[in-house]
Amino acid sequence: MHQPLPQVSLESMNDVHLEEVHILNTLLKQLGSDADFKTVSESFETLLAHMQEHFSSEERLMQEVQYPSYRMHKGDHDKVLNEARYAEMEWRNRRDVEALREYLEEELLTWLDQHIKAMDTPMADFVMQFEKYKDF
Ligand SMILES: [Fe+2]
Repeated sequence: MHQPLPQVSLESMNDVHLEEVHILNTLLKQLGSDADFKTVSESFETLLAHMQEHFSSEERLMQEVQYPSYRMHKGDHDKVLNEARYAEMEWRNRRDVEALREYLEEELLTWLDQHIKAMDTPMADFVMQFEKYKDF
């Protein structure tokens, strides 16, 4: 359904990205098959929780290595998390399947692809300079 995810030089980050896309695809499948409100809402919760954990683990790592673009990278995480929380509020208020599908496909997935290319890739390369992260 989508192009393969861009790969970064830290395997652990690729694993987390892949998990996130799996959750997203599950949610999209549910939206495409008229799943009930509760099922969709629970998957959305799972996605939000995963995004939060995904971002904070990257942020911890950036702080450990004193990554120079930490603030910009974290700013991009915070922005997309706020948008996702807003989309969730909209979903709960309106239950608009088409609006949610559009948000996930056109905004969130596009964001993820661009974020990985523009921010996670240089971050992973920076982290890889440190011997102890080579097998991450
Ligand atoms: Fe990131």
